[in-house]
Amino acid sequence: MSEPEVPQSTLSADGIAAVPHHVAIIMDGNGRWAAARGLPRVEGHRRGVEALRRTIRAAGEIGIRIITIFSFSSENWSRPAAEVGELMGLLRRFIRNDLAELHKSGVRVRIIGERAGLEADIGRLLIEAEELTKENTGLTLVVAFNYGARQEIAGAARRAAEAVAQGTLKPQDITVDTIAGFLDTADMPDPDLIIRTSGEQRLSNFLLWQSAYSELVFVPANWPDFDRATLEGAIREYRQRERRFGGLSGAAAAKTGS
Ligand code: FPP
Repeated sequence: MSEPEVPQSTLSADGIAAVPHHVAIIMDGNGRWAAARGLPRVEGHRRGVEALRRTIRAAGEIGIRIITIFSFSSENWSRPAAEVGELMGLLRRFIRNDLAELHKSGVRVRIIGERAGLEADIGRLLIEAEELTKENTGLTLVVAFNYGARQEIAGAARRAAEAVAQGTLKPQDITVDTIAGFLDTADMPDPDLIIRTSGEQRLSNFLLWQSAYSELVFVPANWPDFDRATLEGAIREYRQRERRFGGLSGAAAAKTGS
């Protein structure tokens, strides 16, 4: 079988250095994509998995090092049981069908979110995906599953409190870095760019701590239509932003002589 053709990049050659290291994606609009076609919502989620495969491949080719995807939020349990069941089934199938290929491509899989309360076989699949790929040095795929940022921050505060109670941490020593070290993302850099599809403009309890200085790009496409060109468009928008991290712009700093 011949290799699938790699689409021509729309990024200029000098853009390589400006590729964000860590891109996080809120994959929104599956239901609307399906409704617009008279299809059941579940079909939107299925096509969403195809968009995810395309995006992982494109991210690796573009040179992104970490991609975090919001695949099931702590709040998604409030959806009808059939849809929740379908989303669980899609994760199962994604790991069973795609893990070997991801491993072969050098992708390292990490999972963030609450494991307690998940069905036992899903818990095992998550461990298997992380274990199998833990030595890989290619793209890191972080799957936020049963993830909520407020829950994650509360968990970090709980762990800090436990360390204080055990006498291994002094309250006065708790810093931003201490809390960051208790998050699920402890050893990962913050996302440079967060993309949300479907035109909605909010974070919906996704990476609230880590997004303090992320650039946010909102694209109108629904997630099942997302592809390499959409990703590159978001990266181009990212490259036009000036990241100041609370400091001054280059021009303002030059004027003040600092
Ligand atoms: C939001 O669209 C999307 C989700 C809640 C689930 C995202 C899941 C996938 C793309 C597939 C599963 C992922 C893996 C890793 C197997 P929505 O349903 O809220 O769309 P709507 O706002 O148009 O209703």
